[in-house]
Amino acid sequence: MNLNYENAVERVLCSENEIKEKVKIIARDIENYYKDSEKKLLMLGILKGSVVFMADLMKEVHLPLEVDFMRLSSYGKGAVSSGNIVIKAGLEKKDLSEYNVLIVEDILDTGNTLFWLVNYLKREHNCEDIKICTLLDKPDRREKPISVDFGCFTIPDEFVIGYGLDYNEMFRDLPYVGILKREIYEK
Ligand code: PRP
Repeated sequence: MNLNYENAVERVLCSENEIKEKVKIIARDIENYYKDSEKKLLMLGILKGSVVFMADLMKEVHLPLEVDFMRLSSYGKGAVSSGNIVIKAGLEKKDLSEYNVLIVEDILDTGNTLFWLVNYLKREHNCEDIKICTLLDKPDRREKPISVDFGCFTIPDEFVIGYGLDYNEMFRDLPYVGILKREIYEK
């Protein structure tokens, strides 16, 4: 499919500048929360959607930190994730009891992915302190009791693309978050 980027966006939801400003604000919140902790900070990016946000955020958080990534996939995922999560790429370290873990996501939607992940990290990696940082939060769609600790934007239930978020793997490279035109995903 040859998608035309210019004609695919209904409207910009979060501009490049708005994102930059918000990333700085939550970076300060993250610093304040962790600055006096005895434990090391691990920023855990969930691929692929978090890649742009993670790269920008980690440069703004002025604390000693490590990074790692997981790639998760949800079976039966159409427009909504099913909750049947499969690990496509796992963590490097097994025991994370020495770390404060900050999960970095592009979007919290139904909450199925993060509900599963938080339980998995506690069960399999001995994580005690787990916090959630997301660029976008769609609370209207929540199915699981998961909330954001450090969030940038609360958004309506629209199909969003850009700044890491995709439609059929395209548009992750857009520097802003936009609403995808309905005719593109409904045709
Ligand atoms: C997106 C997003 C979260 C998940 C959120 O990932 O990055 O991991 O969906 O949805 P949920 O709250 O309904 O579970 P996706 O499976 O689209 O993969 P991607 O990050 O590789 O695009």
